[in-house]
Amino acid sequence: MDILIINGPNLNLLGRREPGIYGTRSFEDFFPELESAFPGLTLSMFQSNHEGELLDKLHEVGFTHHGIVLNAGAYTHTSLALADAVAGIATPVVEVHLSNLAAREEIRHKSLLGRHCAGCVSGFGLESYRLALHWFQAQQPKRVGFRV
Ligand code: DQA
Repeated sequence: MDILIINGPNLNLLGRREPGIYGTRSFEDFFPELESAFPGLTLSMFQSNHEGELLDKLHEVGFTHHGIVLNAGAYTHTSLALADAVAGIATPVVEVHLSNLAAREEIRHKSLLGRHCAGCVSGFGLESYRLALHWFQAQQPKRVGFRV
């Protein structure tokens, strides 16, 4: 099962960026832990600070991969284009956030992507990604009728 983790703007700074909110560990440091935790999933990751590159990546994998874990960063709250892309691809997308959006500024309460996603995990730091992957792993036996 091919799963791509997509991280959007500023997530390349994880570990250094506002550590009180986003923690002290980089995603590159965490990723091998995910790979060992899910030997049955083929994981890859992609990060970009550019909306167009995130769109291109969604289009590229959105009809071939079995799942996408997407942390679109601030584009979550602003990008109708990313929301349209998530709506338009066949691969199921789980939205993730390190921080608990409901506990933050009001502008972060609204996700434009959420209605097109299979679900959302928010507030568990890097563990949010692990929880999203658990869902994909649980889908594996039911793959008959999966959207790809
Ligand atoms: C974030 C939450 C967003 O509001 C913010 O713009 C981010 C990170 C999170 O993972 O908690 O860049 O997506």
